[in-house]
Amino acid sequence: MMKLREVLLPILIGIATIGSLGMFLWEWPTSPLHKGIAWHQLRTGSFASVENGQHALTLLYGEAPNQTALQKKSLGLTITETIVETKEVALPFTVETSTDPTFPAEWEYTFPAGHDGFAEVEVREVQVNGKITAYYDHSTRILTAPLHEKRFIGEKVHAELTKQLTDNWNSLKTALSKKQQNTAESFLLATDFGTLASIFKISDLAYRLEHTASVSLALGEESEFLIQIGTVTLQQKNCTTKATIPLYYLKDQQQYRLGNVLTALQSLCAKPKPTSGVLSCKNCWLAPVSKNFALPSSYIPYVVATGVTGGGYVTPDTRTALQKLFADAKANGISVMRVSSSYRSYTTQQSLFNSYVNNERKKGLTYEQAVVKANTYSAKPGHSEHQLGTTVDIMGCNYPCNFYDSKNTPVYTYLHNNAHKFGLIISYPNGSEPYTGYTYEPWHIRYIGVTRAQELYNRGYLTKTGYYLQQYLSEKGEY
Ligand code: DAL
Ligand code: ZN
Repeated sequence: MMKLREVLLPILIGIATIGSLGMFLWEWPTSPLHKGIAWHQLRTGSFASVENGQHALTLLYGEAPNQTALQKKSLGLTITETIVETKEVALPFTVETSTDPTFPAEWEYTFPAGHDGFAEVEVREVQVNGKITAYYDHSTRILTAPLHEKRFIGEKVHAELTKQLTDNWNSLKTALSKKQQNTAESFLLATDFGTLASIFKISDLAYRLEHTASVSLALGEESEFLIQIGTVTLQQKNCTTKATIPLYYLKDQQQYRLGNVLTALQSLCAKPKPTSGVLSCKNCWLAPVSKNFALPSSYIPYVVATGVTGGGYVTPDTRTALQKLFADAKANGISVMRVSSSYRSYTTQQSLFNSYVNNERKKGLTYEQAVVKANTYSAKPGHSEHQLGTTVDIMGCNYPCNFYDSKNTPVYTYLHNNAHKFGLIISYPNGSEPYTGYTYEPWHIRYIGVTRAQELYNRGYLTKTGYYLQQYLSEKGEY
C-alpha cells in the first residue's frame, strides 16, 4: 500500500509547477526577464518586422504610442524621434436614424447630409541608439470635423397629409385673391416671395384662381435643405392646359412650401376676352378697334401737333414715328406728302359718319341702306381708329384732290413698302374687306410700335388674305 505522501506529493508538485508556469506567463509582459530581453532587442536593433516595431513602441511608450499622456521609457537607451511626414487622414462621419411625425410615412430624408472630417497626422520615426526602430502616427489637430448625418423616417399618414396640403393650397388661394402678402408668403418658398408682386398684378388673377386643384404625393429630388414630396395640379374649366406646382418639404424647419406658383398661374389659360363690345382699356393704343370693338365716347387720348405737312394732332409716339416717316419719304424722292386727317374725337366721327349717310341717302338709298353703305368706308362713332390719336390718313397730292386721285400712287406705294419700318400699319389692306368690313384704304395708317409692325409685316399681312391688324391685336391682347 502506497503511502498517501507518495501519491500526493507528485500531484502537489505538479499543481505547483503548472501554477508557477501560469503565473510566469501571466506576468511575462511586465516581468524583468521580458523587459531585459526587450531591452536587449532595442539595444541591438534586432526588431526586424513591423510587429516587432510595434513591440518596441509598446516597450518605449506603454500601451498605445498615439496617446499623448504616455511617457517614453528610456530603459537607459538613447531615443530620438523625427517627424518624417505630415499627412491628412479621414475622420468618418456616423449616421443616426430617427423619426419625423410631419414627413410622409415610410419615406425618408437626410439632414444634414453627413461628410467625413480630416485630421492632420505626423508620421514619426523612432531611433534607438541611432538605429531606426519604428514608425508611428501621431494626430496633431483636426482640420475639418466630421458632420454626423441624421436620417429621418416619416410617420405622417399620406391621406392625412394630402388633406393638409390641399387646405394649405386653398388658404394660399384666398391670400392671393385678397392680396394678403404675409399670409401668402407663409405658403411659398422664400426664394419665390419676390414673385408675389407679379402674381397680384395678373389682371385676370381671379379667373386663373378658379380651378380644381388636386394634390398628389410622390417623392422627388432632394437637395441640401429641400425635398420634393409631390405636386399640386391645377385644372381650369374650359381649358385643356394643366399647371403643376411642386410641393417641397423644408428639412431644417419641417414645414411644407409651394414653388413656382407664378409660373403655374401664368401657364393657365387667360380669361377669354369678349369678341365684341365697348372696350374698357384705359390706354387703348393697342386695342383692336374695329366694327366689333368700340372705344367709349369718353375716350380722349393725349395728343400733340404732328409737326409734319398737313398738321393735325396725334399721340407723342405717333408724332415721332410720322416725322421719321416723312423724312424718309422725302429722302426717297417723295415730293408731295401730307396728313389729311389725324385725331378725330367721338363727336367728330359722329358728324362725319352722319354726313356720309346723308350723302348716300341723296343717292336714293333708304336710311338703313345708307348706313350700311357709309359703313363700308367710314366707321361709326367709337369704332374709328382715328379716335385713338395713333392714326392718320396720308395723301400724295395737294388740296383739292381726293384719295382716289392717281397722283397719290407714289405715296401709297411708298407706305406699302416702308410704313412698317416706322411702326405704322395699313389698317385696311387690299383684299381685307371680308375681314375688316372696310374697303381698301392705302392711305389709312396706324401706329403700333416698330417691333409689332415689323412682326405683322413679316407675317405677310399685306400679301396674305385673312391676316390683318385687328386680328393680330386681339391675339396679342395688350389692352
Ligand atoms: N375710314 C375709316 C374706316 C374710319 O373712318 O376710321
Ligand atoms: Zn383714316
